[in-house]
Amino acid sequence: MKIVMLGAPGAGKGTQAIKISEKYNIPHISTGDIFRSNIKQGTELGTEAKKYMDQGLLVPDELVVALVADRITKEDCKDGFVLDGFPRTIPQAEALDKELEKIEEKIDFAIEVDVKDENIIKRMAGRRACVDCGATYHIEYAPTKVEGICDQCGGKLILRDDDKPETVQKRLQVYHEQTRPLIEYYNGHNILKTVDGAIGIEDVFNNIVEILGA
Ligand code: AP5
Repeated sequence: MKIVMLGAPGAGKGTQAIKISEKYNIPHISTGDIFRSNIKQGTELGTEAKKYMDQGLLVPDELVVALVADRITKEDCKDGFVLDGFPRTIPQAEALDKELEKIEEKIDFAIEVDVKDENIIKRMAGRRACVDCGATYHIEYAPTKVEGICDQCGGKLILRDDDKPETVQKRLQVYHEQTRPLIEYYNGHNILKTVDGAIGIEDVFNNIVEILGA
């Protein structure tokens, strides 16, 4: 099962992608996580990506496409994958389709997690990320057992640099201009499914499972 997650920044794509990955036993591939891990390791890719991420802008297509094209041809992707944060532009979506065509495959589902901009701003202010493993929480909707400490690895929780309100506004603007056209793109391919992302995390997931099949 090959799945693409769509939705505004903070809509809950990552939260749901992790749950899909666990239930269907397919890898969760987050381009945002890959960039953050490169930033942490101080790689050339990380340094280049950070320049764009800190401003709420998209990393150039040529840096992202090669990275994903390589990742989805790894052995663990042979039964499928869930892509989170990719594609984000029409050229990225077209490049993905071309890569999959080469191995006679295609995306099966594009799942849009739909949340209004007003809700997004509130969510982002409450999101906390682990500095060590990158796991994300929410101070109100998905709290940790001990405040400020990651449940998974005991790392310290922080507000991501790009979750500051002024950067979130920019990310939302970029989303509407460059990523939102993908809804039409996947609708045209008859694989778009939209779920309400403004309800509880488990309810959103149940609706996704209904779409994907148990
Ligand atoms: P990325 O990390 O992909 O950021 P994003 O798309 O903006 O998405 P987020 O991770 O912010 O949000 P999400 O939808 O996954 O929400 P989450 O589940 O965490 O990318 C970061 C940057 O990298 C980009 O800005 C760009 O610069 C660059 N980049 C990445 N990919 C790229 C690409 N393909 N091309 C170019 N540039 C790229 O949930 C948010 C919060 O809400 C959490 O606290 C969560 O606990 C909570 N929550 C989730 N669901 C619910 C719910 N149903 N109810 C209440 N709270 C909820």
